[in-house]
Amino acid sequence: MPLANTLPDQMDRMAKAVILGTGSCLPVRTVSNADLERMVDTSDEWIATRTGIRQRRIAGAGEQNYQLATKAARRALAMADISPEELELIVVATISPHMLMPSTACFVQAELGAANAFAYDISAACAGFTYGLDLARNYIQNRPDMKILLIGSETLSARVNWEDRNTCVLFGDGAGAVVVSGATDGRGVFGSNLRSDGTLGNLLSMDSPESCNPDLRREEWHGAFIRMSGGDVFKHAVRLMEDSVTTLLRRHNLTIDDIDLLIPHQANIRILNNLRERLGIAEERVFINLSQYGNTSAASVPIALDEACRQGRMARGDIVLFCTFGGGLTWGSLLMRW
Ligand code: UT7
Repeated sequence: MPLANTLPDQMDRMAKAVILGTGSCLPVRTVSNADLERMVDTSDEWIATRTGIRQRRIAGAGEQNYQLATKAARRALAMADISPEELELIVVATISPHMLMPSTACFVQAELGAANAFAYDISAACAGFTYGLDLARNYIQNRPDMKILLIGSETLSARVNWEDRNTCVLFGDGAGAVVVSGATDGRGVFGSNLRSDGTLGNLLSMDSPESCNPDLRREEWHGAFIRMSGGDVFKHAVRLMEDSVTTLLRRHNLTIDDIDLLIPHQANIRILNNLRERLGIAEERVFINLSQYGNTSAASVPIALDEACRQGRMARGDIVLFCTFGGGLTWGSLLMRW
């Protein structure tokens, strides 16, 4: 049976956003849990059992956010066989931008020489990639031939308090990229369910630099670090990701058994196991690389996607489900036919 005949939304012949190429870039330096034992009061045993993380990559000289992003982008462009000049849009999802202005996307544009693109950053924390892919999907519906570079890139090592064991053991640096364009052969993004809840923003936050305007300074400013109420975030993450996925599947008359591969945000193995059990999806259909990289926020899903792609984990026509959760709060899920 032709692929298009098996689509859930088979009446819909509109162009959908497909991924033409993926790429990722991780910093060279690996920092193990044992290394962290020498920095804060923690243990390999605590980190491994409470989070599933064994090591993370930490950026060094020459590995600024935009430099990791650019390398990931070059790999995605090479797989897609697209030149930088063909790009019309560059979006970088990040909460650790190289500078507040210019955007990291503009730095990437300059590095690539993507002279025909417009470029901007989006800020949706660990949900940044799913938000970005949904955004790309909307551009593609209007202009199916558009070539879009979407990157999730973080250097969170520059934004954690290295004296706070509650947070510094969790995060890592890295970048993942995809090249997106339109196709009418039944492949592509066919559904998303993105959500936010700003009233819970205090559970996971990162302040900006202290105000230059003394009148705008705040007593509660404690430094431009990540701060998190871990337990509360954990509970919301499991419940809200499950809710997002089940709602999305229902909307498309799918069940979890229709999903060939789930690529979730990589934050904590216990969150992922909880989510997996609640959704009833088998372990072998969930892509997990958390132990190697820790939580790389907006970069986690595109790095995982690139690894899954290069390992041949998706076959043409497979249904891939993305699911994310992060500060804001922001969360969501997205379905695509590979
Ligand atoms: O990226 C998107 C959002 N982020 C997340 O999804 C992260 C969500 N939260 C989590 O992953 C978990 O809540 C954490 C891994 C952050 C914490 O795990 P937990 O099981 O919720 O531990 P806890 O915060 O309840 O802390 C338990 C104990 C505390 O000691 P007391 O108060 O019981 O004596 C902590 O001080 O563990 C202690 N602790 C540590 N001990 C050794 C906290 N961090 C560490 C550490 N090493 N690094």
